[in-house]
Amino acid sequence: MTNQDAWTNVCPVRDIPKGEGRNFMINGLNVVIFHSNKGFFCRSGLCKHNNVKLELGRISGDVVTCPFHNWQYQISTGKGVSPDWTQLDCYPLEIRSDDIWVQAGKPHNAMDDAIDTSRYNW
Ligand code: FES
Repeated sequence: MTNQDAWTNVCPVRDIPKGEGRNFMINGLNVVIFHSNKGFFCRSGLCKHNNVKLELGRISGDVVTCPFHNWQYQISTGKGVSPDWTQLDCYPLEIRSDDIWVQAGKPHNAMDDAIDTSRYNW
């Protein structure tokens, strides 16, 4: 198993309220964990336009808007909304005992890998 295959315990779920995101450095990668209306997602942490931390973005539903020049991304897929040709890297995320774990370093292009949050009381 390489370091990229390792799962990292990032933080308790309560540290990222719905409608917010937090940037973290994991395995040398800058990632952001979003808590959107579709659940928790781990995406590449910097805006593809000019490397602004996406935790600074404004989240509305399942879309985050970068505060600098208003590029938008669909959180659940990582796909660009405006412009629509860009794509954030997507990393596996799991909830284990109320902690968020991610497997950073091994991006995949999830169409929708939302965590079922209905059984939690956040
Ligand atoms: S830096 Fe994000 S839109 Fe320009």
